[in-house]
Amino acid sequence: MSVNTIEANRSRNLFGDHDEVWLFGYGSLIYLVDFPYLEAKPASIRGWSRRFWQGSHDHRGTRTNPGRVVTLIELPQALCGGLAFRVEASVFEQLDEREKNGYLRFATELTFADGTTAIGLTYIATPDNEAYLGEASEYQIARHICSAEGASGANSDYLLDLAKSLRELGQQDDHVFAIESHIRKILSNRAPGAA
Ligand code: SIN
Repeated sequence: MSVNTIEANRSRNLFGDHDEVWLFGYGSLIYLVDFPYLEAKPASIRGWSRRFWQGSHDHRGTRTNPGRVVTLIELPQALCGGLAFRVEASVFEQLDEREKNGYLRFATELTFADGTTAIGLTYIATPDNEAYLGEASEYQIARHICSAEGASGANSDYLLDLAKSLRELGQQDDHVFAIESHIRKILSNRAPGAA
């Protein structure tokens, strides 16, 4: 599948003629909210797990030195926490541009904190996209992240901002927090004056 998903997403009009749609954000969409929305609230989706397995050629890396960003991996029993935004359907044009490096729109059931549910859309980078990097140990992922930077900034900031936001939302994610702790050690060893 081509790495640029703009065209593919245009034909994935999964919200029919609805004026408003729930968007489920689980990565940078949680903390870098550069799109208009009507309402935001914590939500989770079942059967999916967040992993730093997608390559970033644009925001947090380059084509020759891709960064690592999150995607969702199917895992029965898993629960992925994030933030849901109620947006006007027209906002997806802007979101498709932002998520164009391998992410496709998928429909999914969201569960809110009060137990109510809604169908929404989320962006997932599936293993058949050209930028996909796949599994590596959390330490290898941390080292990789510390070596990448793209148009939106340092790859390490993507991870640290995500970990901070998940903590603020009260959401546990062992994968993200394990990489965060490796990254903090790597960065502190690099600090001026570090032994
Ligand atoms: C998301 O945040 O929901 C998708 C991945 C990203 O843009 O970081």
